[in-house]
Amino acid sequence: MSDTTRTNRTAALLDAIDEARLWRRHMDLGAIGATPKGGVNRQALSPEEARGRRLIADWAKELGFTLTVDPVGNLFIRREGTEPNLDPVVTGSHIDSQPTGGKFDGAYGVLAGFEVLEALERAGIETRRPLVVAAWLNEEGSRFMPGCSGSAAFTGKISEADALDIQDRDGIVARDCLPEMIAATPEAEQIGLGFPIHAYIENHIEQGPRLEEAELPVGVVTSIQGMHRYEIDVRGDEAHAGTTPIALRKDAFKSAIDIAKALEELMHDPDDVIRFTIGRFETKPGSPNVVPGHVHFTIDFRHPDQDLLMDRGGRIEEVAKAHAGPCDVKVKRISAGAPVAFPDEMVATVRAAAEEAGHPYMEMPSGAGHDAGLLAPVCPVAMIFVPCEKGISHNEAENALPGDLHKGTQVLGLALMKLAG
Ligand code: GLV
Ligand code: MN
Ligand code: MN
Repeated sequence: MSDTTRTNRTAALLDAIDEARLWRRHMDLGAIGATPKGGVNRQALSPEEARGRRLIADWAKELGFTLTVDPVGNLFIRREGTEPNLDPVVTGSHIDSQPTGGKFDGAYGVLAGFEVLEALERAGIETRRPLVVAAWLNEEGSRFMPGCSGSAAFTGKISEADALDIQDRDGIVARDCLPEMIAATPEAEQIGLGFPIHAYIENHIEQGPRLEEAELPVGVVTSIQGMHRYEIDVRGDEAHAGTTPIALRKDAFKSAIDIAKALEELMHDPDDVIRFTIGRFETKPGSPNVVPGHVHFTIDFRHPDQDLLMDRGGRIEEVAKAHAGPCDVKVKRISAGAPVAFPDEMVATVRAAAEEAGHPYMEMPSGAGHDAGLLAPVCPVAMIFVPCEKGISHNEAENALPGDLHKGTQVLGLALMKLAG
């Protein structure tokens, strides 16, 4: 291809990526599962997620893109390449949300990918390789733990059965919710689990404050830090709140807060690199006048160094047992995602795309977990961040600027066009 043709294609694609359309799509998708505070509750495998998938499928239909769905419910939108047998270049993210989530976490990656497909279509630009936008199932892991089960099953990290047998807190099994997801897009052809991918790029809001502080519209992501999850069960005895003397109590709440305090100390990091969170803490039976007999809580902790995660994580059980008082405690590690470094050539591709689009950027690691991390063992992976207001995410107040979403999508467009040939 001549330099002029390449420049023409670049200019045509940049022009065709439409800021207003991209923003409108965020608002339309954000209306599904909308919460009074301006966020969304569109949790994995919920009726709201099914409606979100339907909306995206309608847009895909209008443009003549084809849909497929795999056995664990990952949804794929495909724009054909001139050489359809070549492995596709894939982009995307997730449309499930936290219970009090924002309109951009995940949705941006899917809608940015879709915008690139639409822009290529409207500009009449062909690519050699097919381009696919993935909406991975259950990225958040807030309803069904652990998260990223769709992309993990896709890459073979977990089995199809493991992805389908996970249960939410009410004992509802993912497998039983899946038919509603599939039924939402009956035109999607059922395909097997996993297919070869030439390269994968995921756009996402940063979910932290660094880009906004640096006044930069684009982050070229170099890595994702490791994330380990644990469940802790503290068992005591239920007893009468008004009559039972302290010496006779086995108060699971009291032991659990002692354990939690000791774990905070174990995870203390003067450099503020370890991220340690107890996000769920449930007291049972949850009656004001019953001494709690059971506490269940979760630990999410993260760091860029897997050895540190294994070492500190390996001490959780001993610390918990030492602070359990009269109660019993059980510690279960439910995931141990290692840090992921993105290949240099993929980082360079995104960097070059940002330069070509004329958008200032910085290179940065990701503090949050993403489906890209799961894809990394099976194909070359990269990510593109854009700022979000005050770094707020996993919060209904999450917000981003239309112009930044657009710039990140332009960078994605150029990178995808380069990779797809
Ligand atoms: C993803 O939502 C994460 O928890 O990092
Ligand atoms: Mn996300
Ligand atoms: Mn999230």
